Amino acid sequence: MNNQFNDLEKILITKDEIEKRIAEIAKQINDDYKDSDSLVMVCILRGSCYFFTDLTRLIDKPCYLEFMSVSSYKGTVSSGEVSITRDISMPVAGKDLIVVEDIIDTGTTLSYLKKILAQRNPKSLKICSLLDKPSRRKVEIEGDYIGFEIPDKFVVGFGLDYNQLYRNLPDISILKEEIYTKNA
Ligand code: IMP
Ligand code: MG
Repeated sequence: MNNQFNDLEKILITKDEIEKRIAEIAKQINDDYKDSDSLVMVCILRGSCYFFTDLTRLIDKPCYLEFMSVSSYKGTVSSGEVSITRDISMPVAGKDLIVVEDIIDTGTTLSYLKKILAQRNPKSLKICSLLDKPSRRKVEIEGDYIGFEIPDKFVVGFGLDYNQLYRNLPDISILKEEIYTKNA
């Protein structure tokens, strides 16, 4: 039987650490948006699926849950080109938007998304990302809520994938280099 744990170098962030940090971010969002009556949380599929579901259940007010898909990534190297493959289903003019992503790497995806969503005239637009790899940045962009800064290592688990696999691992782990170099 293929055991996906064998493909991991080591655990970087445990599920308990993730859970604790998500609660802290939710508290911050609850404080920051206590006067908002039009909060829209946008899940960027598929990497932020678990982050999004855990986070939004801790938001203490009514909010819209929207889903969006973008494609930009093949294997471990970003193609640099981004396109929307599934859009959100509601107009967001005048609303408070929080885009929920799994990771900011080069910044290409989020700077594109931010530009597209800003054109729809939301009242506000913030970025919430579980992970951030600041050392890899090519496009200038900063998250407003960040779970963890991580080193320049390819990580999987808790929603993050390599070639669409490993998303269902409970922790965030560094993938063994041999896994992606053998397929390169
Ligand atoms: P960016 O456009 O380079 O910032 O890339 C963002 C996207 O790249 C994320 O939404 C992830 O899908 C993917 N990505 C970047 N680094 C990793 C990683 O270490 N593991 C898994 N996916 C990653
Ligand atoms: Mg992704």
